Parts: sequence; C-alpha cells; structure tokens
Amino acid sequence: MTYIKDLADHVDNQVTLKGWVYNFRSSGSLVFIEMRDGSGLTQCVVAKDDVSEDAWEAANSLKQESSLEITGTVKADERSIGGHEIHVSDVKVIQVAENYPITPKEHGVEFLMNNRHLWLRSQRQWAAMRVRNEIIFAIHTFFQGRGFVQMDSPIFTGNAAEGSTTLFETDYFEDKAYLAQTGQLYGEAMAMAHGQIYTFGPTFRAEKSKTRRHLTEFWMIEPEMAFYDLEMNMDLAEDMLKAVVSQVLEKCKMELETLERDVETLQKVAEKPFERMTYSEAVDILTSEDTANMLDEMAESRRQEKIDLEKEEEEIRKEHGQAKKWRKTQIDQRIKEISARVDQIEEDLRNIPKWKESAKNFEWGNDFGGSDETVLMMQFDVPLIVTHWPAEIKAFYMKRDETDKLALGMDILAPEGYGEIVGGSQREESLEVLEERIAEEGLDKEVFEWYLDLRRFGSVPHSGYGLGLERTVSWICGLNHVRETIPFPRMMGRLTP
Ligand code: 4AD
Ligand code: MG
Repeated sequence: MTYIKDLADHVDNQVTLKGWVYNFRSSGSLVFIEMRDGSGLTQCVVAKDDVSEDAWEAANSLKQESSLEITGTVKADERSIGGHEIHVSDVKVIQVAENYPITPKEHGVEFLMNNRHLWLRSQRQWAAMRVRNEIIFAIHTFFQGRGFVQMDSPIFTGNAAEGSTTLFETDYFEDKAYLAQTGQLYGEAMAMAHGQIYTFGPTFRAEKSKTRRHLTEFWMIEPEMAFYDLEMNMDLAEDMLKAVVSQVLEKCKMELETLERDVETLQKVAEKPFERMTYSEAVDILTSEDTANMLDEMAESRRQEKIDLEKEEEEIRKEHGQAKKWRKTQIDQRIKEISARVDQIEEDLRNIPKWKESAKNFEWGNDFGGSDETVLMMQFDVPLIVTHWPAEIKAFYMKRDETDKLALGMDILAPEGYGEIVGGSQREESLEVLEERIAEEGLDKEVFEWYLDLRRFGSVPHSGYGLGLERTVSWICGLNHVRETIPFPRMMGRLTP
C-alpha cells in the first residue's frame, strides 16, 4: 500500500492506494475519482477499456465517501491536484457509502458543526488540523531544544487561579473540585524543581460568552522559568512565536494554500521584531485622534470598494447571457466572491462606528475588549506585547512594579484582528505580599498553602506565560472562529458530537 503523500517517489510505477471517494464524476467511458487517504488527495482516472468489467462496475457504483482500494500507474501531471494522476487498472470497493450529508454545495455552520465527525474529512478542515499538528510539534521542538522539561499539571484541582466566575465545579468524592483553568500554579512548583518547564494540556473555563475566540475547553502551553524577569519572559515568548510561525511556513505550504492563507503577513511575523508597549501607551493610541481618523478613512474606503464591486457585478451579469460555458462558470464564481466580500464590508461598516465609539471612550483601568484589540492591532503587522497593566484587572499572583499600581503582566495580541493569544507575567515572589493578596481577593488561604510554600523555601524571581493553542491555530490558519481549530470544539451550547 502506498500513501498519496508519497506518490512523487512512484512516478510511472504501479501503486495500490486505499482511501475514500472525495469527489466523483463520470463521462461516458471515463470515471474520475478524487481519492483521499488521509495523507493527501489525488485524481484517479478509470477508462472503461483499461479495466475488467467488475472493476468498471465497481467504479460506477461509487458514491461520495465510499471506501475503496485502487491500483494504477502514477503519472506526473502539473495540472492535477498534488501534481499527479493515477491511471487506474483495478478498483475494489470496500464499502459503498450511504448518501453522504456533506455535499460539495454550501452548508450552514450549525449543520457542519452537528456533523463535525464527518466534516473533519473536508479539505479545509483537514488542512487546519494538519497546521494544528505542526504548531504542536513546533512548540515541543522549540522548548525541548532549549532544555525545557515538559511536565503535566493536574486537571482536577482545588485552586481557582484565574477568577471565580469561569470555574467548572465537579464532585470529587466528598469534596468539590474544579477543572483546571490553568496549570500555572503547579508549573511554578515544577519550575522550582526543574528550572525551566512547560505544561501542555487541556484547560477549562465556563465562558458564558459566545465569541469567535472562546472555547470552554482549550489547550494551553504554559512555560514557567525560575530566575526570569518580565523582559526575559517577553523575549522567550517572541522567540517561540517566531519559531512556530517559521516552521509552519516551511512545512505546511500546501495546507496554507488550501486555507487560502495570505502568507506574507506570517512571513513578517517570522522576521520582524514584535512591537512592545505599556498598557498606558496602548490606551493613548486607542483614544487618539489618529485612531478615530483611521477608522473614518477605513469606513470611507470600504464604502468605495463596495460601490466598485457592485458596478463590476452589474457588468458581468450583463455579459452572462451571451457568455460561453467556461466564462459563465468564471462569472458565477466571481459573483460568489463579490457577494462574500460585500457581506464582509457591510459587517465592517456596521462595526466601525461601534469600534470608534468604544476606542474613543476607553477609560484607563479597564480591560481591552475584543473590538479594542481589533482597533489597536489595525496599526501593526506583527504581534504586540502589552505590559504594565492596572493591577486591579490582573491576577493575584502577578508581581507589581515599584508604584504597586501596575502588574508586571504581558499580553500578546496577534495581528489581523485575532486578539490575545498569550497572557503571562512575572510572579510575586514575596510570601508576605502574596498572603496579603490572597486575603484581599477573599481566596481561601488554606488551599493555597502549598503554593505559598514555594515562597517559604528558596523563593526566587520567576516568570511564565500561557499560549492559547486554538487562538494561535486560528490566527496562523486565518480562520475566523476557534471552533474550526480543534477536532471536537466545546463551547457554550455545544457538547456534541
Ligand atoms: O490570559 P490567560 O487567562 O492566562 C493564564 O491562564 C495564565 N495562568 C497563563 C500563565 O501565565 N501561565 O490565558 C492564557 C491564554 C490566552 O491568552 C488565550 O490565548 C487562551 O489562553 N485562552 C483561551 N482560549 C480559548 N478559549 C478561552 N476561553 C480562553 N481563555 C484563555
Ligand atoms: Mg489573559
């Protein structure tokens, strides 16, 4: 058995492929089967004269997603998907599929999500999962290459570390436990044992928000390093993101093409230094006249673009009547593109006034909302690291600066409107200060005693951060919702399949 990804090694030779029918059409004495085998997609051509009667019958009995075995000769063909074509000598059906619910026509997202177990087979979904896999591999490669030890934090925990409003509570025999919102507190203990560690595991938040950035179950990568200050923490995160983006650009060319991802912006991320500024500087940008003007100009250029697109549509529609068949197909395709773009423009035009209002009236001390992040990031083509946050809106464990008003936290915002992908900080290392914080926040000191021990026995300055895997996948793939970045997403209102 040969895998489609390896066809280049078998040009002009006979191979046997096992897989599924992705697409299928017949014309007289030829059957064209687009076959997928998990490793790739290739076109198989069955000519009536080249195969036995049984094989010809088998080929004609096929339906979308039927499983099959094909034997044939590999031909190099520039114009074919993947650069090869199979000239078939035998077809064996493994199972003729029932009518497959996901057809090449368009489906609504709810329908596709309900069929997620099947939707995973579609090209774009397949490509996104492969990019996710490469990102995971790149993260491990990066940290392992620097001598970090991967360690696992528990999922059942008694500690709420990231606020009490998003906890999933569960019975733990006579006790109650939470599903971990973060592995960080355990990460700190492990860093005191191993110096530089990272966790890579599922985390849970009862997020009551239905946004394109929120899941209730997501995967987080949390490095924690003894003797790192905020600056070193930022440098590490920047190096990591650059390494991840570079590796994906190198290894996932075909997947990014399938996803129609603009790779130029990713290349910039791999090459250019990230932007860094304090929260206060970011607020100044957000509330500035320049930002308001930029949004006005953006609205104006969107309106103009819409007028131009509508004019173009009118013209090609006129042409449609007399056009040749191939041109008609081209026109239909273009009309679809125009309509998608116009929808996007209309959404932007509805949003821009809201964004402008929210940015202009932003008050120092608040957390950035999704739209504030979007507006801020319109001005940058690389990630932005925001530091020195108002302490009130950040977690109790963050170290503060000398004014005691600002937390030495860092958030990294992705370009192109993908929002916060990293949250981290330097940690408070003083026992007394932490005890005060825990009391101030009304946290149960008893469950934090073990954590306080880390400050009793050889406390050192240390730092770490958490990278949200799904948001990173969504950004690198250019997907507009995190639900397509994980095989089986868990969100408010979705527990199946
Ligand atoms: O900013 P957060 O809440 O930070 C922490 O949990 C720290 N304890 C991490 C650390 O310092 N070790 O979450 C970190 C990242 C966010 O930047 C975001 O990318 C992701 O986790 N994230 C989510 N992703 C998807 N759905 C959600 N509901 C998410 N909440 C956070
Ligand atoms: Mg955060």
